[in-house]
Amino acid sequence: MNYEKALKDIDFLLSESKEKKIDMVVTYLHDHVAHYNWVGIYLIKSNMLKLGPWRGPQATEHTSIPIGKGVCGAAAKTGKTEIVDDVKNDDRYLSCFLSTRSEIVVPIKKGKKIIGEIDIDSDTPAAFTEHDKTFLETLADMLSEHICTD
Ligand code: SME
Repeated sequence: MNYEKALKDIDFLLSESKEKKIDMVVTYLHDHVAHYNWVGIYLIKSNMLKLGPWRGPQATEHTSIPIGKGVCGAAAKTGKTEIVDDVKNDDRYLSCFLSTRSEIVVPIKKGKKIIGEIDIDSDTPAAFTEHDKTFLETLADMLSEHICTD
């Protein structure tokens, strides 16, 4: 028995299971909330937003977003939730899907450090209310402890 290798392997298994938990939450949101048409989690790695688990009709080309760029980058920079009622009227918006009309991005923090974010696109204009904001900010706090940081 190579104890050192075993610890590395188990550490990997534990991090995998954290990934799986996040993945299940993404699926839950996508499947349970009608106006959440595309749901993804971005994680901050090497000062970039990297797309983690996502659910939706199609993949996005924006799998790696610099901090400060787009709506996602803005939320990652300020640590504040962004709600865009009409994506066509926001110059920061990085287009992913033709059907998207509105978007919410909620930072995930560990203490004061921003470690990732929840990004949700809706095909409905102005789909996101204060209820979504409160709900998703609470969820972001719940997810925080299950996310591995670098
Ligand atoms: N629209 C985002 C990019 C990510 S996609 O919505 C999945 C933005 O403006 O940052």
